[in-house]
Amino acid sequence: MSQSDDPVDDDGERHGAGPALTRRSALQVGAVLTTAPLTGQAVAAPRTYPLMARPAAPGQTMKLGATINGRQFEAEIDARTSLLDLLRERFGLTGAKKGCDHGQCGACTVHIDGRRVASCLTLAAKVDGRRVTTIEGLSDGKRLHPMQQAFIDHDALQCGYCTPGQIMAAVACVQEGHAGSRDQIREYMSGNICRCGAYVGIVAAIEEAAGKMGRRA
Ligand code: FES
Ligand code: FES
Repeated sequence: MSQSDDPVDDDGERHGAGPALTRRSALQVGAVLTTAPLTGQAVAAPRTYPLMARPAAPGQTMKLGATINGRQFEAEIDARTSLLDLLRERFGLTGAKKGCDHGQCGACTVHIDGRRVASCLTLAAKVDGRRVTTIEGLSDGKRLHPMQQAFIDHDALQCGYCTPGQIMAAVACVQEGHAGSRDQIREYMSGNICRCGAYVGIVAAIEEAAGKMGRRA
């Protein structure tokens, strides 16, 4: 089998025949290893990914129709699903990250009808009939959004884990008219945490992109 014929997993990783080792399965093994008692015994096989395996509870499903990144989607979902899990686990839109899952870090920020939300705290049911934009839908085809370009130009990231949420929040910050000064940018971006401390670059990138987007305050 040539490399191009190799199966691709749901993270977009390619693997050939034989036991598949993907980033997700490696992390699952790691999770088992780090929680296993120190008995010196072999570690159990990796668990299946719980959200993929868990069936919707009977009587707790609903039909959802939403426009996500300009495309109409319909799905039968567990009514208790968060928007973040729907995007990542059902639609494969893994740009929005699960940082804290408690509304405290901003890594999961997406837009609903142009307004920023923490998708980990938003029920998927809430987007029925609405328009959702994620980092995957921000660029105009092959041309990056001015905010994405500014983050690159100002080196506004290190590990990149917080970056999709930072960029989605930054676009909203400018569109809300909250990018009039560095202090105002810091205030209105305070819900987005960067563990790498790339804040100087982030603020500079937003300042520059605000000029190009035509709205500062
Ligand atoms: S993952 Fe949603 S705010 Fe942290
Ligand atoms: S770039 Fe690493 S957490 Fe922000």
